[in-house]
Amino acid sequence: MALKTIDPITTAAWGKLQTHFRTAKDISIKSYFVKDEKRKERFSIDTDAVKLDFSKNRIDQKAFDLLIDLANEVDLKDGIEKLFCGDQINATEKRAVLHTALRVKGTTPILVDGKDVVPEVKASLKKMKLFSEKVISGAHKGYTGKAITDVVNIGIGGSDLGPRMVVDALKFYRNHLNVHFISNIDGDHVTETLKGLNPETTLFIIVSKTFTTQETLTNAMTVKGWFLNTASEGDIQHNFVAVSTNLEKVKAFGIADDNVFTMWNWVGGRYSLWSAVGLSISLALGFEKFEELLAGAHQIDTHFRTSSFEANIPVVMALLSIWYSNFYGAESEAVVPYSQYLSQLVPYLQQLSMESNGKSIDRSGNEIKYQTGAIIWGNTGTNVQHAFMQLVHQGTKLIPVDFIGFSKSLYGKEEHHKKLMANFHAQSEALAIGKTKEEVHLELKLALVQDEISTLLPYKIFNGNRPSNSLLINKLTPFSLGSLLAIYEHKTFVQGYIWNIFSFDQFGVELGKEMANKRLK
Ligand code: F6P
Repeated sequence: MALKTIDPITTAAWGKLQTHFRTAKDISIKSYFVKDEKRKERFSIDTDAVKLDFSKNRIDQKAFDLLIDLANEVDLKDGIEKLFCGDQINATEKRAVLHTALRVKGTTPILVDGKDVVPEVKASLKKMKLFSEKVISGAHKGYTGKAITDVVNIGIGGSDLGPRMVVDALKFYRNHLNVHFISNIDGDHVTETLKGLNPETTLFIIVSKTFTTQETLTNAMTVKGWFLNTASEGDIQHNFVAVSTNLEKVKAFGIADDNVFTMWNWVGGRYSLWSAVGLSISLALGFEKFEELLAGAHQIDTHFRTSSFEANIPVVMALLSIWYSNFYGAESEAVVPYSQYLSQLVPYLQQLSMESNGKSIDRSGNEIKYQTGAIIWGNTGTNVQHAFMQLVHQGTKLIPVDFIGFSKSLYGKEEHHKKLMANFHAQSEALAIGKTKEEVHLELKLALVQDEISTLLPYKIFNGNRPSNSLLINKLTPFSLGSLLAIYEHKTFVQGYIWNIFSFDQFGVELGKEMANKRLK
C-alpha cells in the first residue's frame, strides 16, 4: 500500500507548534539548563552503539511533545511499517524500498509482489563472501595467474559514495588489498588512478544499478581499453566483475554471467552500500567485517521500528530538523565528525539526504508551500574550527550542527584523543551557552584600557543559543559505523514522510543529464 498523504501543515500539532514557537523561539538553551538539572538525561537516547544527546537544542518539553504529536498525527508508525514490509512506497517508480531487508537477521519472509526476497539477499551475500575470500586469499588470480593486489570500484553517486566512505572510514580494519575509486567522468582522474596500477593484478568492479550511467560507462570503457592494451577479450573474466540489475547490458560489455553480482530495483542507489554495491567494502575488510556493518545497521532498524518516538534516535533527529527548517527557517545543517576517518561522511550524507528530500511536490501531486530538504554540509573536527565555525558561532544564520565523536581512539594516542574530545564537547557547549557582554567586559577589563574595551566589546560577544546534537559512539568499528549510517537513513525517511514527499525517486537529476547528452550530439 502507498504512504498516507497528510499535509503536515494542516495538522493540529503544526498549528500548535506555530503558536508555541512564537512564545518560545527566543528562550535560551542556557536558561533551560538552569531550570532543569536533569535536562541532559531527559534529552538523551542510548542505543548499544550510539548515544544521542539532544539537550543543547532550542526546545522545551512542550515543543518536544508537540513534535511527537506531529509524528503521531501524520501516522508515522504506519509509514515505518510500510517501509519495513516492502509496500510500494516509492510510488512514482512503482517500487518497494527495502534496504532494511539487506541487513535482516534470520529468514522471516519479506514479500515484494508476493515473492520472498530474503533468500535472494542471503544468496547474494554468500556469493560476495565466497568471492571476497578467494580474492583476499589469492585463490582468485588475475589473467596472468598472479594474485590480486588492487581493486578499483567504478561507479558514481550511490554506486560510489557509500562504499568509498566506508572503505575509508574503516581503513584501520583493512587487509592488504589497495582499493581505489573512480567516479567522476574526468579523464585526468582516470589516468592518474591507472598510472600506478598493474593490469595483471588489478580487479575492476563496475557498479551501476542501471548500467546506463554516462560517467560509469565511459570510465569503464576507458579502463577496458587500457586493460586490453596488454590483455585479450577472453582475459576480462579474470579481472572484471559487475554489480547491476541490468544483466543484458553487463553481458554486452563483456562480463561473464558468473562475474555479475545482482542488485534489485527495490534498493535505491543511495541506500545500496549494504548490497553487492558494497563488494569493495567486503574485499577491503573481509566479509566478516562487512557482516558486522550490516549487524550495526540492523540493530538500528530494530530500534527505529520498535522504540517509542520519544526514545527513537532517527525520529527525534528528524523532528528536530523539521523544527529548525519549518519553524526557525534554518536552511542548512552541518555535520561535524571528530574523526578524520569520517572525512567522506558528509558527501555521502549529502546524496542520502538531498537527493532523497530535495523535492517540492507533495505525495498528492501539489506544489509544496513549506521548506523541505535541508542543505547538508560540514567536514571533520578540529579542522572546521579553523575554517567555517566562525560563521556558525557568530554569523547571522542559524545552523544546527550534528557533532559526532568517539570515546576511544583506535591507536590509543591518549594525548591526542583527550584534546580531540575536549574540542568535540567544547564546540557544542560554546554554541549553546555563548559568552555574555558582562563576561566579555570582565575579561577585557583585566587586559585592556577602558576605551579599547568599548571598541572591542561587541565583537567578542557570543550570543549562544545555537543548537546542536551530540552523537557519542564508544569506538569506530564496522558495527558502530553501520548503526550511525542507518540512523541517518531513517532520519531521512522520517523527514520525507512528514514533509509528505516521495523520498525515493530522483527525477531532479535527469534534466541536466538530458541537456549534457544533447550537447554531445
Ligand atoms: O544521480 C542519479 C543517480 O541515479 C543516483 O541516484 C545513483 O546513485 C547514481 O545516479 C548512479 O546510478 P547507477 O548506479 O545506475 O549508475
